[in-house]
Amino acid sequence: MRVLVTGSSGWLGRTLVPRLRAEGHEVVGLDPVPAPTTAVVGSVADRGVVRTAIRDHGIEAVIHAGALHKPHVARRSRADFLAVNVAGTLNLLEEAVAHGVDRFVFTSTTSLMISNAIRAGRAGGAAGAVWITEEMAPLLPRNVYGVTKLAAEHLCRLVHEEHRLPVVVLRTSRFFPEEDDMAHEIGLSGENTKTNELLFRRLTVEDAAEAHVVALEQAPALGFDTFIVSAPTPFRREDTESLIERAPAVVARYFPDYPAIYARRGWSMFDSIDRVYDPSKADRVLGFTCRTGFRERLAELAAESDGRGHAPPRVVANPAGRPYNGE
Ligand SMILES: NC(=O)c1ccc[n+]([C@@H]2O[C@H](COP(=O)([O-])OP(=O)(O)OC[C@H]3O[C@@H](n4cnc5c(N)ncnc54)[C@H](O)[C@@H]3O)[C@@H](O)[C@H]2O)c1
Repeated sequence: MRVLVTGSSGWLGRTLVPRLRAEGHEVVGLDPVPAPTTAVVGSVADRGVVRTAIRDHGIEAVIHAGALHKPHVARRSRADFLAVNVAGTLNLLEEAVAHGVDRFVFTSTTSLMISNAIRAGRAGGAAGAVWITEEMAPLLPRNVYGVTKLAAEHLCRLVHEEHRLPVVVLRTSRFFPEEDDMAHEIGLSGENTKTNELLFRRLTVEDAAEAHVVALEQAPALGFDTFIVSAPTPFRREDTESLIERAPAVVARYFPDYPAIYARRGWSMFDSIDRVYDPSKADRVLGFTCRTGFRERLAELAAESDGRGHAPPRVVANPAGRPYNGE
């Protein structure tokens, strides 16, 4: 397929474009920032740029990953967010319909499901971690990033309903390589933090790219659908109260070896976990599961520290007797 990928110069785009090419797709990257993965240097906010890119390259599918996002909230105006994330998405959807594009994948974010109240967690008086699925409502995004991504999701739905354009929305959790902007408060190394987050709110950039490849394949069969994309969580809904009170004990129940593996590196688990993204719908309906989760990362850490091969750590059946299966 001839695929237009927006945001092709970015962190995800630089992994996604070669991955699509390896599948045999012809890829046209569109991004205001030049890069080897970008053929069209321009903005999705410019209708003419979008029209020309889709029409002149005979585009058959669009993956819309370009955006202003969390790091830009402090630096860019709300009007810029609206122009890029909302008007830019509408430009792509309408030009896609006008030129017979037959599928569209939109990179959204789990961030739009996080209200200020959820973010406040235990300090805000929460009695338990919030178990987050695609059904969660009402959605009260806490910043202009979430508000514009949610508006863009609704435009995707609207255009699908009016024109039958197949659209898959991927609400991805975090995969950025940088340190968390709260790193000074968290007080853990970046690698320690990212490994902890694989339990409930992170995935690798390779898995994020792979989810887009699968969504592209599945879009016509799905019509319109929205999926949380995050590494499999070992936790269950029954764990939410304990997770906010004593997360390390809950993690140790599932991964009895983790305290020793962490201790060898001087790592710590978060004291409290305030949310869990449940990616099981993507597994069931989209047919996509991340390859790398906490379990896989822990196995790597164990193998690295004792020089052995890739020995998986022990995983204990959950209290209800079901084995850990990524749900
Ligand atoms: N990184 C994460 O942890 C994370 C988490 C959830 C969702 N996302 C989403 O994933 C997508 C990719 O994020 P990323 O981590 O690769 O970020 P990134 O900033 O590395 O890449 C985003 C790309 O979008 C481009 N872009 C900005 N304005 C544009 C415009 N007007 N037209 C076209 N392209 C434009 C940027 O130049 C950049 O290359 C974004 O939609 C983001 O909202 C990212």
